[in-house]
This record gives sequence, structure tokens and C-alpha cells, in this order.
Amino acid sequence: MSENLGVSELSEEQARAELARLAAELGRANTAYHTQDAPEISDAAYDNLKRRNAEIEALFPGLKRADSPSDLVGASVADGFGKITHAVPMLSLGNAFDDTDVQDFSDRIRKYLGLGKEALVFSAEPKIDGLSLSLRYEQGQLIHAATRGDGATGENVTDNARTIGDIPQVLTGAPDVLEVRGEVYMSHADFEALNERQQAEGGKVFANPRNAAAGSLRQLDPSITKSRPLRFFAYAWGDLSAPLAETQMDAIRRLAQLGFVTNPLTQECDGPESLIAHYRSIEEQRATLGYDIDGVVYKVNRQDWQGRLGFRATTPRWAIAHKFPAELAWTRLEAIDIQVGRTGALSPVARLAPVTVGGVVVSNATLHNEDYIRGLDSRGEKIRDGKDIRIGDWVQVYRAGDVIPKVADVDLTKRPDGSAPYIFPATCPECGSAAVREEGDAIRRCTGGIICPAQAVEKLKHFVARKTFDIEGLGAKQIEMFHDDADLPIRQPADIFTLRDRDASNLNRLKNRHGWGAQSADNLFAAIEEKRTIALAKLIFALGIRHVGEVGARDLALHYLDWTALTQAIDAARPAALAHRTADQAEEAERIKAKAEARRARVSDCRAAAIAGLDVPETASQCWSDLIGIDGIGATLGMSLSDALANPVERAAIDALIAHLNIVPPDAPAQDSPVAGKTVVFTGTLEKLTRAEAKARAEALGAKVSGSVSGKTDILVAGPGAGSKAKKAADLGVKTIDEDTWLALIEGL
Ligand code: IVH
Repeated sequence: MSENLGVSELSEEQARAELARLAAELGRANTAYHTQDAPEISDAAYDNLKRRNAEIEALFPGLKRADSPSDLVGASVADGFGKITHAVPMLSLGNAFDDTDVQDFSDRIRKYLGLGKEALVFSAEPKIDGLSLSLRYEQGQLIHAATRGDGATGENVTDNARTIGDIPQVLTGAPDVLEVRGEVYMSHADFEALNERQQAEGGKVFANPRNAAAGSLRQLDPSITKSRPLRFFAYAWGDLSAPLAETQMDAIRRLAQLGFVTNPLTQECDGPESLIAHYRSIEEQRATLGYDIDGVVYKVNRQDWQGRLGFRATTPRWAIAHKFPAELAWTRLEAIDIQVGRTGALSPVARLAPVTVGGVVVSNATLHNEDYIRGLDSRGEKIRDGKDIRIGDWVQVYRAGDVIPKVADVDLTKRPDGSAPYIFPATCPECGSAAVREEGDAIRRCTGGIICPAQAVEKLKHFVARKTFDIEGLGAKQIEMFHDDADLPIRQPADIFTLRDRDASNLNRLKNRHGWGAQSADNLFAAIEEKRTIALAKLIFALGIRHVGEVGARDLALHYLDWTALTQAIDAARPAALAHRTADQAEEAERIKAKAEARRARVSDCRAAAIAGLDVPETASQCWSDLIGIDGIGATLGMSLSDALANPVERAAIDALIAHLNIVPPDAPAQDSPVAGKTVVFTGTLEKLTRAEAKARAEALGAKVSGSVSGKTDILVAGPGAGSKAKKAADLGVKTIDEDTWLALIEGL
């Protein structure tokens, strides 16, 4: 058999046969890996086959096949798809689950826009359960197609998108630049037929139409995509050289005129009642539509209002997805496990006898926290008529959309004899440290910090996640593997950045490891290298400090602009942070005492005394006020950040990490704006802008918006009724202007 011969020993005849065999084997491996998500051979074995193929081709250039695996650059297992950075990010949608949420959505928008009696019209259309795709046209030609990816960067699936019949390749009469966005999906009938075909051919059988659509679009071989019955509904747009229309409805009509398929159930609605009526009508038609939908999307019709409303961190203010209700099933609760999260939270997880809920087999569900198991809600009030949840109980499980299944109810008539209430552990099941509940917190937390292996692993998973360091090839699964690795452990973030050197000085153990191979190890090292350079906001968020979310991290980055400046300020503020906590505790103690003595607490006196008693240095107070004065950053976040940086173990881990990184400061705020870099405070009643809009617009122009007046304030915008802030500004000599002057200042741009 020629496959056992060395390359140099092959005759021409044998070489030809070998190249055919290798092409077939590599083709099969590619399909197994990408089409079926089930690799059949290790990366190392794959690399060996590829290498052998290349060596034979080098020796017998004339025998190179037309379908040679060496030409599959960009299509090999290691390479995957190219990346495309979206000109305008692809965002997701906030959710509404009931009629009240819809009313709130409309009220919020009215308030934000400061609408009086004016009509607020929406569009409403089905939320298609597929995967989103962005199509870029320039001068009417389809230039590229990208999946959503992480919202900022997606995968280049242009060749595949060109095979979808609903996607026009050429447009007539479109703006020069037009990015059309929509959903790729598969109809029920096509899905059934595809699965039958797959089954007959021994291929992958898909769990649902959404998976089938995603698996079919993300094929490295476009001819496979072409053979799959994919469809596309257009419902939104990204980059545009000229507006499509003045309203959402007209823009959708324009897309239809350009040749896109738009959803026939898209309708104009003049308020919450009409939205809800349309929702009910779509819900009734759901079973007969022939494709999966999971809710109805509402969008503000006027484009200029969409522009004013803008975006929160990841979702537009002008749109929302009203989801269909959850699906339910009953099953037996077999056990309760406790999982320890990134911030030490002990989360009870229900282990269930497997049950199908809305087409998906569920065997785990969340039980939230110990109060929930006892039958109490977040305010300590009875839920489920005060029924507690016990191991052995029959419980009702529900799931809505892609959220984690939940245990909703208990059937007491089926409660086994001799069952006992569940006792929530008072120590961490992972590290044995005490698990405590702080006053007012429903969550019990492990006090072990990063000494607790579970917290350390979860922190690392967060560190490498998509929204943080996003290291390709280093996901949750790999973190778990490396954390317990004997040769190359990753116990803290800094260990990621020493992995390559440690491997080199450790006999290339990773490169030689079964299931890895030189190529995958090199790919991982390269992916890590790439992320040594990181934006300050991402770094702050990646640290996984409790209460410091994506938005808080961005606000901190924009305020301090530099890692060293940030840590110096937080370190300097430490005495004031501690005093704040002491004051809070004193306040709490006073409250309890006051209650017992049935007299009113003099909270403010108590706080002042506590702070005074601690003799906080002036700079500490200033740094602390500066920190918690950042709009959107409160004392809770400030305390948590201060605690993390003052904890010697955590600080050592952070400092070790920083030494490996190049930290990129946030983009300089728009320099061409007269308010760029200025710290602005709004107070009193604003008449032309709502507070939220004023803040969003000021920030978009590069200003920092603060909640309190200090020596650092550049401008106070004071509306009628301005009180202590205006007085303080006057005392400090801060420039104070009214709303009209402010508008003239920013609109004179
Ligand atoms: S509008 C700025 N309309 O839902 C937001 N999205 O949960 C633009 N989706 O990523 C999205 N049907 O993949 C919009 N009619 C529809 C939709 C829709 C499905 C998906 C889309 C998006 C996700 C958000």
C-alpha cells in the first residue's frame, strides 16, 4: 500500500494514487469538522496529511490535482472564514415579554423624545428565527456578505450568500453604498426534506431549522451552501450613502422595490394597543407561516426619531423584540447542584429528569438563589403560594427563547413522603471558604476570591470571552482544560501571555500533545499575540470585577484615559472608599438600632460622624468624589473596584497581567467639537431635550457628563428649578449656561 511508503519511495503511479487518497481523506475531514461539527481526526493527524500531500506535490508537480487540498487556503480547518469589520455595528434587540413591557417601551420613547400629544407610530413585523446577515452593495454590486459575529466583526460568507436565490447580486437605483441586513432562514418544508436527505446520505441531521440555516450558510465550500434551500428576509440596513426613506415602512417598501424579499406581515401601528393587536394576530398565524419566528419586532417609524433615540451599549432605543411566551413541561427534580460563578455567587442548578420543552431536551434549569428555593421573590415576598422546592419534587420547567430554562412551579400532590426542605450550603462547595450573604443581597457568595478555583476559572472564561479578550481557539472549554493542566497551567490571566514561552521551555509539550499538534498550537500562540494589544475599556471589563460591566468599564476608560491614571486614582481614593463603607455600615447599624428603639434614625449625622471619625485625607476624598461623580458610576461600583485593587492577591494578578499588555487608550473624543473633553453637568428642568438625550448627545460630541459639580466641572447647564448644584457652581466659579445657550453651542457645529 503506497500510503505506508515514504514520499521519496513513491513511483509516479503510486504518487498519483496517494494524492487522490489524500484529497479524499482531507475532504472528508473538512466536512466532518465544518459540516457536522464532529471532527473525525485530530488536528495533528490533519496537519500530517496536509504535509504529506504538499511533499508529494513538490516531488511530482505534474501530478497536482485540480482539486488539490493545498489550494484550499482560507478554507482549511485552521483558516476558516476571513473576517469583515462591519461599517456600522450589528446590534441585538432588547426584549419585551408582556403587554406592560410594550407600554413601557412606548412610554420610555415618548419621555426620551419629550413628545406631548404627538403621534408615535411604529412598524411591527415578525422576528425571524434564523441568523442575521449583512450585505454590502457598492454602485449596485454585491461586494461582500458578513455574518453578525460579535456585532463588530463577522465572518466573510460572500461566496455562500451569492448562492441564495433571495439575495440580489445587482441592484438598480440603489444608493451608491447600501448595506442591507436581514435574516437567513430555512422553511419548515425545506428543513424536513434536507434532514431526510441528510439521514439517507449519512450526513448530519439538524436539530431545528435555525441550526440547519446556520450550518448551511457557514460552509467553507459554497457548492454545499448552494445545495441547501436557504432564504432571506430583508428588514434593516447598516452603512448608507443616502437615506432610503423618511420612515421605516417606506424604507422597507424601497428594499422590496430593489428586489429584496420583505416580510408580508410588516405593518404600521399607531401605538401600544395596535402593536399588541398585531402581535396577537401574528401569534395566531405562527403555526401556519411555514417558518420559525420567536416574536414580533417593533421599530419607531420616523427615521429622524430613530436617529435621536440612538443606542444603548448593544441595543437600539428605538426598537424592541416582543417575545412569544415560554413553553412549559413537568418533570422530576433529581438533584440540586451548586455552581460558583465569576464573582463568587453560589447558583443552585436543578438537575432534572430529561424532558422536552418546546422541541429542546432540557435536563438542567436555574433555581436562581436560596430564597427562590424557599419560595420567596427578590423582595422577600411569597411566591408559588410559599411552596418550597425539594429534591424529588415534580417541578414545572419553562423556557423562553434562548434563555436558560427555569423552574417555575412545584406539584405538592406528588411530593414524595419523607422529603425535607433543601438546606443551602453556608460554605463554598469548591474551596470550602465561608459563603456569606450581604445585607440586602439575595445571593450567597464564596469569600475565597481568586483563591477559589471555581471563581478563578469563571474569571478566566470571562477574560477570554467574545466581549473581552476574544482569543480565537481559547474558549471556555480550553480554559477548563488549561486550568488543570499539569505542564502548562493557566491559573490567572497573565499565564495566557506566557503560554508560548512556557511551552518552548517545556519540550513543546503542547505542540506534541495528542489532539493539538504544531499547527493548532501555533495558531493559538498567534491568536494570543494578537490580543496583547487591547483597548483600555475592554481590559477593565475583562478583569471581571463585580459591578464593573461593559458600560461601566467604558465610562471609566473615557474618564481616566489611561490604566496608570486609573489605578493611581483608585488607590488614592482607598481611605475615602473605606470611610464610605464604614459610614454605610454605621448607617445600617443606626437604622436597626433606631427601629428597635422606635425612633427615627439621624442617618446623615451618623454618616458625617463616621467619615469625620476616620480622618480621610483631602486627596482621597477628592479622588473618591471624582470616581463616583462619573455619570453612571455609583458608590457600589466604586467600592467594588476599590476592593478588587486593594486585595493583594487580586492586585498581584492584575499587575502581572498588565506587564504583558499594550493598552490602547480610548479614541480621543471628537476634537472638532467645542465641548470635546469638557466635563458637563446638567441640572434643573430641561425643556427642549430630555435628560437622557442631553447626556447621549453631549457624550457623542466628546464631552464627559457628570452627575455632580466639582472643581473639574467645565460647564453647568442649568434649567429652571436648578438648586444646590447651581449654587455650588457659582461658588466654584464654574461657567453656567441655560439650555438654549447649550443648544446653540452644540448645534452651531
Ligand atoms: S432589527 C438594530 N428585525 O433578532 C437591530 N431583527 O435579537 C436590528 N431578527 O440580531 C435588528 N427578525 O438577527 C430585526 N424583523 C427583524 C428581525 C430581527 C429577526 C434578529 C436579528 C437580530 C436579533 C436581535
